[in-house]
Amino acid sequence: MIKFAPSILSADFADLDEHVREAIACDIDWLHVDVMDGHFVPNITIGPLIVRALADVKKEKGLTIDCHLMIEKPSRYVEAFVDAGADIVTVHVEAVTHLHRVVEQIKSSGAKAGVALNPATPLSAIEEILPYVDLVLVMTVNPGFGGQSYIPTSTDKIRRLRQMMDERRSKAFLEIDGGVNEKTIREAVGAGADVLVAGNAIFGGTRKRGSASAEQTVAGNVARLRSALLQSA
Ligand code: DX5
Ligand code: ZN
Repeated sequence: MIKFAPSILSADFADLDEHVREAIACDIDWLHVDVMDGHFVPNITIGPLIVRALADVKKEKGLTIDCHLMIEKPSRYVEAFVDAGADIVTVHVEAVTHLHRVVEQIKSSGAKAGVALNPATPLSAIEEILPYVDLVLVMTVNPGFGGQSYIPTSTDKIRRLRQMMDERRSKAFLEIDGGVNEKTIREAVGAGADVLVAGNAIFGGTRKRGSASAEQTVAGNVARLRSALLQSA
């Protein structure tokens, strides 16, 4: 079963609760939270306070909060995000020296543990940690910003990761993040991705602050992604 994980990075922060509810109304069961520190990536975004602010909608709808930490020394913040309501905490292999220790820390804090790979990081970087993780995140853009283009060589990387996971009987989710849209979704899912992060493709074009109407709706955007997915079957 393919899951969508809308990234709130592209949502309307002045009306986050309502914008997120528009996505959840489309039977979305994960919400992707992009945490950036201005060091590991050039951008600065969200901390545990925003995760806590999503607690009500999480409780009402049984939502999974998927926190993607694009930060240096993520072990300093694992408990803060889990206490705030994170169900999955994903750290970058490039940002951690003792990856097994951090993965165990995430799990003992009560969350599922994910590991993320930048586009130029080889799959061999996660070979040893694979038996311990609940999720592997393949970055299909360079992390830091929403609205970038899918890097075409990602498809082969997803395919090789799916093969590695199958050979090792890994039950982890294979999540992809960046540039997912109607055009790229088919090849990414065909290659073996089963959780699709999408920011711009879901929230983009749906809000025009101060103007009467936006051109697109969240529901329409999700429907377009779903129908593109069906065409891949
Ligand atoms: C990028 C983030 C992504 C981003 C995806 O660093 O990790 O989650 O929000 O945005 P789109 O779907 O617009 O490429
Ligand atoms: Zn992300």
